[in-house]
Amino acid sequence: MKCDIKDTSLAQKGMVKIEWAERDMPVLSGIASNFKKTKPFKNITIGACLHVTAETANLMIALKNGGAKVGLCASNPLSTQDDVAAALVKNFQIPVFAKKGENQKEYFAHLHSVLDMKPNITMDDGADLVSELHSGRLNQAKKILGGTEETTTGVSRLKSMAQEGTLLFPVIAVNDSMTKHFFDNRYGTGQSTMDGIIRATNKLIAGSVFVIAGYGWCGKGLAMRARGMGANVIITEIDPVKAIEALMDGFRVMPMTQAAKEADFICTVTGNINVVGLEAFKVIKDGCVISNSGHFDVEIDLVALRKITKKRKVLRDFVESYKLKNGKTIFVLAGGRLVNLGSAEGHPASVMDMSFANQILAVEFILRNGKKLSNSVHVLPEILDRKIATLKLRSLGTKIDTLSERQKKYMAGWREGTR
Ligand code: NAD
Ligand code: ADE
Repeated sequence: MKCDIKDTSLAQKGMVKIEWAERDMPVLSGIASNFKKTKPFKNITIGACLHVTAETANLMIALKNGGAKVGLCASNPLSTQDDVAAALVKNFQIPVFAKKGENQKEYFAHLHSVLDMKPNITMDDGADLVSELHSGRLNQAKKILGGTEETTTGVSRLKSMAQEGTLLFPVIAVNDSMTKHFFDNRYGTGQSTMDGIIRATNKLIAGSVFVIAGYGWCGKGLAMRARGMGANVIITEIDPVKAIEALMDGFRVMPMTQAAKEADFICTVTGNINVVGLEAFKVIKDGCVISNSGHFDVEIDLVALRKITKKRKVLRDFVESYKLKNGKTIFVLAGGRLVNLGSAEGHPASVMDMSFANQILAVEFILRNGKKLSNSVHVLPEILDRKIATLKLRSLGTKIDTLSERQKKYMAGWREGTR
């Protein structure tokens, strides 16, 4: 079996992590145990490009037990858990092509190793696999029934391909299910980003000025958690509606060039490029810690930063100091890559449970409906979203009310008004 991982001897440690995560993934486990019996993925090859974590391992095992042949590469050069990769290879015979800290050449070679497996279904987090396939392996598209996409930035890239007319198969935007972005992007990113910043720096959040760029799903979650830890939170935005939302949620809102002057921490979560750029670096507070939790490492303009830097030094794992020509020193975490997966372990399993329940149901949906779907970006039917939410609630032991017949009729009608 072909694979490229750091060290197979880490398998036992990885196995413990996979089992630990599984305990908090009851929705995925329930769906997986049904699929283990019915084998809906028989004769299907799934090429996955995801963060190689303990939670992803549980998804890969579920797909394999459902009859699929699976291959996995990393969706970020810094997010791989090498022990988990080893366990997948050694204990489950799943080909993995991923090493934490791999360089750009290795990263793309690993994508191609997965594409070499000639997948019928692609599973992406950021759309690099689909993008590579459309950039030089177009002949493979005929064999592909469809793809799934995990994150906001990936969905945005795929919509752009569909708009251009270049997308050659349908893709399910898993990110756009309610049971994905309401929870993963908000509570998952909120908690794991704080975790990444704290593990890397061990700095006190209480009393600090914490600047968050972007008040979307991830930004809202991060702001909530930073405030909960006692930070004085500032939001930067480009969307006037989101800016009002942030204001009315009780945060200060201002441009990045103003916020940078007083920031102890800056964290970007926008999916955009050069969000912290030269103008902000010129006025930034001495000692500021800058990180990113958006998908790509383009949110902090490191090219501009290097030009005004006298000396760079790695101080501790995932912390690099930049001594600027103006005498100030600032610290960049995880090389500007997503800090929650670079210097921590990503979202907790309990939240990935719903994200990956969406992924596995999206694969089944493609197999049932792929031929009817246009070559564009689709959302899973709401009934599946509600099924996942119902299963999650049940696993949490929470009951809710149900509509009476009288209430159903009232909600569907128009005749009953003021009385
Ligand atoms: P979103 O669209 O809900 O929010 C992004 C926000 O950023 C928007 O409100 C937008 O107006 C704002 N924005 C854009 N450009 C900006 C700029 N220059 N300055 C300030 N604000 C700006 O998206 P989201 O779901 O919150 O995702 C954000 C990013 O995080 C994406 O790249 C996504 O793929 C990624 N993501 C990462 C993780 C993770 O584990 N780290 C998890 C989920 C999503
Ligand atoms: N994205 C964010 N957190 C993750 C995790 N724990 N596993 C896989 N993908 C993730």
